[in-house]
Amino acid sequence: MTITSPHLGSSAGWTDARLLYALEEVVEKELDRHLKVAKDWMPHEYVPWSDARNFPGFFEDGEAWDKEQSKVTEIGRIALVVNLLTEDNLPSYHHEIASLFGRDGAWGTWVHRWTAEEGRHGIVMRDYLLASRAVDPDKLEQFRMAHMSEGFESDNSHSMLHSVAYVSFQELATRISHRNTGHQSGDPVCDRMLARIATDENLHMIFYRNLLKAAFEIAPDLTMQA
Ligand SMILES: [Fe+2]
Ligand SMILES: [Fe+2]
Repeated sequence: MTITSPHLGSSAGWTDARLLYALEEVVEKELDRHLKVAKDWMPHEYVPWSDARNFPGFFEDGEAWDKEQSKVTEIGRIALVVNLLTEDNLPSYHHEIASLFGRDGAWGTWVHRWTAEEGRHGIVMRDYLLASRAVDPDKLEQFRMAHMSEGFESDNSHSMLHSVAYVSFQELATRISHRNTGHQSGDPVCDRMLARIATDENLHMIFYRNLLKAAFEIAPDLTMQA
């Protein structure tokens, strides 16, 4: 199939390296905008620490987890575990975008900043779940080990544009998923925490959406395919 672009003629000349270079200015602009609008927040402020008790193992006063201790609905527990497992796989996602976008210049600054923000999500969710005894902590850890040990399988044929297109939708999906989980959780503390995470996810979506829009302007056919 021959791909032609009204702006640049045949797209055969577009490599990932050329696209990264052509989009760097947009990344810089979007990164600046992101840093201005992203509000700093402290994950520990969202966790009900005074609800926490020791677990058995090494502590004599350790109290085993029981479903009765959880303030969260059944569906909330399932969604929280799934959402946390997704956040937990951050090392694999970092590797994925660092490989495709690089670690230099504005692209690299974004990759590291995004990773740091995503890291907060796993931290605050795990701290909340353990302090409030919302889910079985042993199962949660076993799931995490199994999930992360699998890694993240991405299709190697995916180009950097495929990745930008994918995350534009994926960040929106995580925003919706966290927000709905909060609504369904039955615990206002959980809802507030997930609303804070969803605000981050929304800004991630806007960053990638604007980048995808710029890609449409310079390489519309390739971007449409992606
Ligand atoms: Fe996240
Ligand atoms: Fe995100």
